[in-house]
Amino acid sequence: MQKRILKINGVERTFIANPDKTLASVLREQFLLTGCKIGCGTGQCGACSVIMDGKVVRSCIVKMNRVPDKAEILTIEGLGTPEDLHPLQVSWIAHGAAQCGFCTTGFIMSSKALLDENKSPTREQVRDWFHKNRNACRCTGYKPLVDAVMDAASVMRGEKKKEDLLFKPGADGKIIGTYFQRPSAVAKVTGTWDFGADGALQMPEGTLRLALVQAEVSHALIKNIDTSEAEKMPGVFKVVTHKDVKGKNAITGLITFPTNKGDGWDRPILCKDKVFQYGDAIAIVCADTEANAQAAAKKVKVDLEVLPAYMSAPAAMAPDAIEIHPGTPNVYYEQGIVKGADTKPLMEKATYTVEDDFYCSRQPHLTIEPDCGYAYFDEEGRLTIHSKSIGIFLHHAMICPGLGIEPDKLRLVQNPTGGTFGYKFSPTMEALLGVACMATCRPVSLVYSMYQHITYTGKRSPGFVNLKYGADKDGKIVAMESDWVIDHGPYSEFGDLLTLRQAQFIGAGYDIANIRGKGQTVCTNHAWGSAFRAYGSPQSFLASEILIDELAEKMGVDPFELRYKNLYRPGATTPNGCE
Ligand code: FES
Ligand code: FES
Repeated sequence: MQKRILKINGVERTFIANPDKTLASVLREQFLLTGCKIGCGTGQCGACSVIMDGKVVRSCIVKMNRVPDKAEILTIEGLGTPEDLHPLQVSWIAHGAAQCGFCTTGFIMSSKALLDENKSPTREQVRDWFHKNRNACRCTGYKPLVDAVMDAASVMRGEKKKEDLLFKPGADGKIIGTYFQRPSAVAKVTGTWDFGADGALQMPEGTLRLALVQAEVSHALIKNIDTSEAEKMPGVFKVVTHKDVKGKNAITGLITFPTNKGDGWDRPILCKDKVFQYGDAIAIVCADTEANAQAAAKKVKVDLEVLPAYMSAPAAMAPDAIEIHPGTPNVYYEQGIVKGADTKPLMEKATYTVEDDFYCSRQPHLTIEPDCGYAYFDEEGRLTIHSKSIGIFLHHAMICPGLGIEPDKLRLVQNPTGGTFGYKFSPTMEALLGVACMATCRPVSLVYSMYQHITYTGKRSPGFVNLKYGADKDGKIVAMESDWVIDHGPYSEFGDLLTLRQAQFIGAGYDIANIRGKGQTVCTNHAWGSAFRAYGSPQSFLASEILIDELAEKMGVDPFELRYKNLYRPGATTPNGCE
């Protein structure tokens, strides 16, 4: 430990620091300056940007032993206050540049450093600055951020006033479609909007910090879980396994359709007999600090018999593939589509036919905020779980039986959320927090690293599509045949629904009277499938739009003209027959 003196936001502070800790963790944990956010934690996203001796730094990778004594540190808390905002903060509000807000404080501090050295940057220079300083945003598309810097610079040069930037409703009072500021904007630009990891730091004394013991293989039988050594590690309160779960120890996928061959109870809260994907939670270490919990998690011994891992749908569909969930076939749902006349003779008569295979890859949501949450028993004795859930009533139903708690004794709360783009339509850590809180009767918190966030939350499911169009001599598509497969990972939740979406979306936008197709949902050992923006569309449109281009090329016509010819007209119906 070292005695350190730093000037933080204009105030000289003397404190004792661990030289191996990062500046970000000292600012957040010792000074509760939680406007400094931690996203990636590895210097890649810029969420933790602060200014040190006039230079922007990514504080998550600056160890305290590299911070000069008496260094001047400026964080968002020292830039402006809700009552007296800095021009950059006003401009961020005015341009709607703080959307989820998780990247916002890092961007503003980075922009402050830019404007300190260049009062009149060009848009190109602003973009280059963000690129150079690795400031990443998943919500805005960057244009509002550049707009905000340009306008803030005008204010700082005295060419505009802060008040000029903000939208004011006119006499008509119209707000929709305007730049009316979002209610959370002031909190987001001042760093006072507390996300889950900030809330976790503000939990009371006695809160247990959790670390997961996770599978490092994708498919295996669990022979034994030995927690004895981990239980003796410093600061450990309890190591929780499946034995401590009071309920069914499963998250129900609430299967959508009765023709699903699974029962929807395929996702364990804590694995008991099998590992189904990399990262599956096997045990939870509950300790006094995160570091102690993580150190003890490494001491849990898991005896595994590794099984063949089916990392794509074709592998899991192979005739010799074993059932990932014994008793349920790996192809557990089928969805057909029939519209109009039989397509076979129409294809034979068509002047032009095109056919191809398409693959739309798995996609991570890559929110800048990693998954995080905390839980406690409230004053009415209800288990209360705060998380990034964007479906708290849905998730309540999905985790309640697994936890073994009466529905009116479970309360879910959505924290201010740093983007989800759909992945939080699935429960992630809610049941883990609940199990740990119930097993210890203590408040608990869990904050994923970016690595855990990427490897152990749902992803957009890959889609394999074989597609064929038949068109007449003028390019009118008269028939479509489709065959698609969704690789939904090991857990079935909403997999049937996603497979239905392909029936609705493949070929959508075009008036195609005759369609035959079949889709399948396949269980694999890759990351489980969850919702993603434009649910089901990329897998569908990648295929149907590329094939339009291929048809145009074969016919030697303009692809836009060909699209125009086939677009919906009044009276047309969608692939699944809607008007
Ligand atoms: Fe520090 Fe991403 S760069 S959190
Ligand atoms: Fe930038 Fe959400 S506003 S990541």
